[in-house]
Amino acid sequence: MLQDLEQLPADPILGLSAACRADPNPNKVDLTVGIYMDEQGVCPVFEAVRLAQSALEAEEVTKAYLPAAGDELFNLGIRRLALGEASAALAEGRVSSIQTPGGCGALRIGAEIIHAAAPDARVWVSDPTWPVHIPLLGSVGLEFCSYRYYDPQTHSVNFDGMVADLKKARAGDVVLLHGCCHNPCGADLSLSQWAIVADLAEQQGFTPFVDFAYQGLGDGLEEDAAGLRLLVSRLPEVIVAASCSKNLGLYRERTGATIFVCGDAANARAILSQAQAAARRVYSMPPAHGALLAARILQDDHLGGIWRTELVTMCRRINGLRSNLRQALEARCGGDYGFIEREKGMFSFLGLSPEQALRLRQEYGVYMLDSSRINVAGVNADNIDYITESVSKVL
Ligand code: LMR
Repeated sequence: MLQDLEQLPADPILGLSAACRADPNPNKVDLTVGIYMDEQGVCPVFEAVRLAQSALEAEEVTKAYLPAAGDELFNLGIRRLALGEASAALAEGRVSSIQTPGGCGALRIGAEIIHAAAPDARVWVSDPTWPVHIPLLGSVGLEFCSYRYYDPQTHSVNFDGMVADLKKARAGDVVLLHGCCHNPCGADLSLSQWAIVADLAEQQGFTPFVDFAYQGLGDGLEEDAAGLRLLVSRLPEVIVAASCSKNLGLYRERTGATIFVCGDAANARAILSQAQAAARRVYSMPPAHGALLAARILQDDHLGGIWRTELVTMCRRINGLRSNLRQALEARCGGDYGFIEREKGMFSFLGLSPEQALRLRQEYGVYMLDSSRINVAGVNADNIDYITESVSKVL
């Protein structure tokens, strides 16, 4: 039964990170997977998470299953974090959510609901998008169209192209948007562009599905949510895939949520029942540990304050690295790398060809994706010269 299945190529992101780990080059640099790393190259545990963990360890009395919708306090907290304390949709009770295994689980449950509601819906994805979006949503049976998004010549959003393409979306289609810190390009929409996307959703009748994995890593928790909140204030239905991997550093704890903004409270309850049934079909119930930590942090002013301060520090460091990298690349390679400073979050394209990215890996041990997407947070004072010098040698 199994013998004819072939060996598959390595995952385009995780495979490169594994290759870097195996590389004996003492100068190697891993700029592949989107995890935050500090100056020492360590992906740290937030202090707020450590404190929540100690309290949980002291108080936890059971490891019984969570309900299919997950932890109630976590769900409350993540809805408020994404949509804002003052959200009218929240006050009207027309929002439901389900705790999921990470942001991927959130995308998958969102896709299950879209497929159940509209099996012929086409999902419009940005060109480019996170490579996992297509297999993750496509495995449910959804079809895709792509809209122009990133212009490699200008290193910015091709908004005219995006609008022209989204005018081809039909009523009942879904448009997948990156809420902030676009993965892979780092180029985000301005608030006025989000307003035009809301206009288009009204005109064309599509539903936005917002992948919201990086809240707090661009300009701040509130600032990064402005586009999503604008959509929610204007449209009856929005689906959100939220993740605590990056902004709470809970990567391996697989902590996320699908949030459904619905037309009314009864519909929000109906959609939650559908989402619970979908979860039961796929994985039954979500893992508890990360969500219980996140719930404590999101509900507790003291812990929440510590976390927010840590997140601001992290966000500032990434933005500082963006400036440093721009300066170092311009000094070493010439040209204009100002786009690195304008972009948001962990990722930027360096504008190299796949062959140049391959040479960087093979000859210098500098690992980035074939698309030349780098994880800016992997840069530090010790490796920045080596990275920029290596880049200058393959240009
Ligand atoms: C990334 O894009 O590197 C992250 O989202 C991690 C992943 O799962 O690919």
